[in-house]
Amino acid sequence: MPRTKGKNNSRHPGRPPLSPVTNELKLSFPSLSVNEGFARAALGAFLAQLDPTPTELVDLKCALSEAVTNCIVHAYSDGIGTVKLSVSLRADRTVIIEVRDLGRGIPDVAQAREPLYTTDAAGERSGMGFTVMESFSDKLSVVSKPGHGTTVKMIKRLSERKKL
Ligand SMILES: Nc1ncnc2c1ncn2[C@@H]1O[C@H](COP(=O)(O)OP(=O)(O)O)[C@@H](O)[C@H]1O
Ligand SMILES: [Mg+2]
Repeated sequence: MPRTKGKNNSRHPGRPPLSPVTNELKLSFPSLSVNEGFARAALGAFLAQLDPTPTELVDLKCALSEAVTNCIVHAYSDGIGTVKLSVSLRADRTVIIEVRDLGRGIPDVAQAREPLYTTDAAGERSGMGFTVMESFSDKLSVVSKPGHGTTVKMIKRLSERKKL
């Protein structure tokens, strides 16, 4: 159930309380490449209730694609594993997208987040996935434990829409 009350921003006591969560989506799917498109479509359908601008929608879908693709090609490079997607909406129009895998993990997150850094030996990847995610969100956090998995969290506050 979504939280309906304002939550204290306990990690940052100096800051104002976080706006309450008004809706949540949780999905879990195998790391098949067909599910990248599914995740994009699911995000688009879920965000429709906020009436995002076309640019906001494309940006967030693109950022999500990068995160899901990373689970498919890097986290579970040796097989198929589970990808967990959660999207939370706050009353102040903040969208929080979390993509989690239980795959190989990232030994050096700071290095992985550098533009053009890639471990892809086949030369098919640009090394720009995290850069895209960062530029399309207000805040990106990446937490990873080698051998245990990775959680990518993207936070973006959508613009106010004019009332008709
Ligand atoms: N979910 C993940 N699990 C394991 N490693 C990852 C994951 N996401 C990213 N990485 C590592 O971080 C590097 C940089 O990711 P990214 O910026 O998306 O570039 P690219 O995917 O083009 O290599 C990847 O090459 C990979 O080594
Ligand atoms: Mg990538």
